[in-house]
Amino acid sequence: MKIDELKTPVYVIDEVILRENCKILKEVQDKSGAKILLAQKAFSAYSTYTLIAEYLSGTTSSGLFEAKLAFEEFYPDGPRNMFPEIHVFEPAFGAEEMKEICDIADHLVFNSLNQLEFHRSVWEKAISEKGTNNNPEIRNGLSVGLRINPEFSTQDGHEIYDPCAPGSRLGIRKCDLPEELPKGVEGLHFHTLCEQGFEPLKNTFTAFEKSFGKYLSEIKWLNLGGGHHITKPDYNRDGLIDLIKYIKEKYCIEVYLEPGEAIALDAGYLVTTVMDIVKTDKYPVLILDTSAACHMPDVLEMPYRPPLKDSGEAEEMQYTYRLSSRTCLAGDVIGDYSFDHEIKIGERLTFQDMAIYSMVKNNTFNGMPLPDIAILHEDENADVLKQFGYEDFKMRL
Ligand SMILES: Cc1ncc(COP(=O)(O)O)c(C=O)c1O
Repeated sequence: MKIDELKTPVYVIDEVILRENCKILKEVQDKSGAKILLAQKAFSAYSTYTLIAEYLSGTTSSGLFEAKLAFEEFYPDGPRNMFPEIHVFEPAFGAEEMKEICDIADHLVFNSLNQLEFHRSVWEKAISEKGTNNNPEIRNGLSVGLRINPEFSTQDGHEIYDPCAPGSRLGIRKCDLPEELPKGVEGLHFHTLCEQGFEPLKNTFTAFEKSFGKYLSEIKWLNLGGGHHITKPDYNRDGLIDLIKYIKEKYCIEVYLEPGEAIALDAGYLVTTVMDIVKTDKYPVLILDTSAACHMPDVLEMPYRPPLKDSGEAEEMQYTYRLSSRTCLAGDVIGDYSFDHEIKIGERLTFQDMAIYSMVKNNTFNGMPLPDIAILHEDENADVLKQFGYEDFKMRL
């Protein structure tokens, strides 16, 4: 099937771009010695996991369900000790979840000393049964770490995505850590960036090293989190590689990166159809069969204006429209875009960079149908991976 023949609305994952991103990340891994993990919170279209597993070292999960998904889907057939890694971090784990998480995970990161101690008996038992990860031959051991807060903010005005913003609950501050790390802690983790280049990471690491450097001789691994826009053409990859080599050589520890966006950046589209055109006192409004609120919530939450194929900024080209949806929410507006021709009802439009934080965040508000999920292969043929209908709406209520 060709992309034009797919029923809309549909998310289309672009296999070529996904593979290109993975190749870039593999090169960074190979040159730096870091291990790069897929942050599933950004992209969990698991039909592509075997492709990603060709290049990356494993996954990171936001809790039990993502960890189970990784366990079931990320691993190519083979003996368990050859499998890529499963890391899990969540601000608070439920008591009833911990045993299963410890069975699945090989790296477990706690957000507080309370959580570390609350679950201690379970993770210590798992370590005594599975072993730790200190032996590179043992891949499904368990190693426990703590998320710290470097208290070094590099984002302007984006508190919603800034774990170092004042009052943040994410990570332990220096003043709350004891002189020596608690017994059993083998790693540290920080995640502070969002869609950022290398400089903010370098500055964050410098601040981290100053505040937390004394712990680096006590740990076996350091996770630098996500938010690194490594697959953007202008990202300073040489700088990143040098920093990782510096950390590994100076402190003799394993270094992890867990980007989400960078893995599926620009590797997906959301194809939609114009259902109606409504005249207003400003731009005419295109009513689409997709919705910002339901199918691309980050457009409203971040907020941001998604790129749209063959379009310009408002009034850049001859015909300007406001792109909106058929939900009841007045503010369910994707943005104002211009075109070189008059748009007709029934025309298809293609939003770009729609693989990340879209499928994982969508919802059925107003009973809106969920977009299908398709994959565009290297030979330009597309396959539908998932179709959704009324039952998917009903079963959640
Ligand atoms: C702990 C953690 N790791 C990794 C990521 C992935 O970040 P990104 O998709 O921006 O690379 C996030 C995103 O919120 C996160 O909270």
